[in-house]
Amino acid sequence: MTLVTDVRLRRVLDSRGNPTVEADVETESGGFGRAKAPSGASTGEYEAVELPVEEAIAAARAEAVPRLVGEVYAGDQREVDAALHAADGTDDFSTIGANSAVAVSMAAAKAGADVAGLPLFQHLGGTFRGDTFPVPLGNVVGGGEHAADATDIQEFLAAPVGAPSVEEAVFANAAVHSAVGDLLAERGVACGKGDEGAWAPSVDDSEAFEVVAEAVSRVEDDVGFEIRLGLDMAGAELYDASSGVYRYGDRDRTPDEQVEYVLGLVEEYDLVYVEDPLDEEDFEGFARLTERVGSGRPAPTLVCGDDLFVTNVERLERGIETGAGNSILVKPNQIGTLTDAVDAIERAVGAGYEPVVSHRSGETEDTTIAHLAVATDAPYIKTGTVGGERTAKLNELIRIEHNT
Ligand code: PGA
Ligand code: ZN
Repeated sequence: MTLVTDVRLRRVLDSRGNPTVEADVETESGGFGRAKAPSGASTGEYEAVELPVEEAIAAARAEAVPRLVGEVYAGDQREVDAALHAADGTDDFSTIGANSAVAVSMAAAKAGADVAGLPLFQHLGGTFRGDTFPVPLGNVVGGGEHAADATDIQEFLAAPVGAPSVEEAVFANAAVHSAVGDLLAERGVACGKGDEGAWAPSVDDSEAFEVVAEAVSRVEDDVGFEIRLGLDMAGAELYDASSGVYRYGDRDRTPDEQVEYVLGLVEEYDLVYVEDPLDEEDFEGFARLTERVGSGRPAPTLVCGDDLFVTNVERLERGIETGAGNSILVKPNQIGTLTDAVDAIERAVGAGYEPVVSHRSGETEDTTIAHLAVATDAPYIKTGTVGGERTAKLNELIRIEHNT
């Protein structure tokens, strides 16, 4: 293990054209790592704090860099991340910014892997993990906070659960995306794409279901393996706390009606995955839904908490106690370090929750999450379908698969 000798931070572009933090970490033996922070749009209330980029960089230079350079070993991720926490001194990275913290944490991991001469997934996962590959959940139609005048439901996801390899799964999702484009064109629906590259048509949710289900069945016939449907409902964005209802374009739904609505969708479309079906405060509603669809054989539906858990072990603990959800979305920048993200994954797996490693709507060409998913044997990864910042992760998964 070699000491960190330099940490550099700079402002770079993300996929929305916004500034984000890039970090470089160097070690005394010439090891090098570089990573960039992603950024959310439909962010959870309880996420670690993303500071304005210039402020995050200045604070990290003043507070964190002196605690890292000459002080910690790049290969010791827990030590690096503990130094970031100590430098910050708060529970939510509001001093140095979760954007600076996560960029440094991931860059240090890459420098540690470089020093060890290992691929990042192996450095993070060790010898006994990293031999199963995640199923990529492909966002093919979307709206909500990611596109104006599109669907109420934030993400319609293709889940190629029967794919024999990551490579086949990645191309199946791309084919579904393309088939959705064709079907929308046939219907005369002109549309652009949302922040994650999904089609953002101005249609209601039921028409979106029709189109996605048709596209999936066409591609299924073509590829010969099972592709299921999933959703990210981003319930906290639909929920209007002041009136206590979920607001859809055509109507409102009370929390009870929302639960019934989701149950109906699970049944009608045989959903394999439903993320944030309810508001981020509604542990009880999550528990009710999980009880109805989240267990039993042969195929329980994953009820996944994104804004509900925000990759935070304490919030996950509350979910475990109350039976809320059976899956957790894992976004390192929601919590600020790779150590915290891996702790959340380990606690989740210990309690029988399935971890789903995820990108953000604002992304970069950084590929760390592909390695994190493989390193932790996560059963799913959410990283979009098309667009350079999305394909960066998908292509990295293919490379990892081919080299092992
Ligand atoms: P975000 O969206 O990155 O804008 O938060 C992704 C998600 O809700 O899963
Ligand atoms: Zn989400």
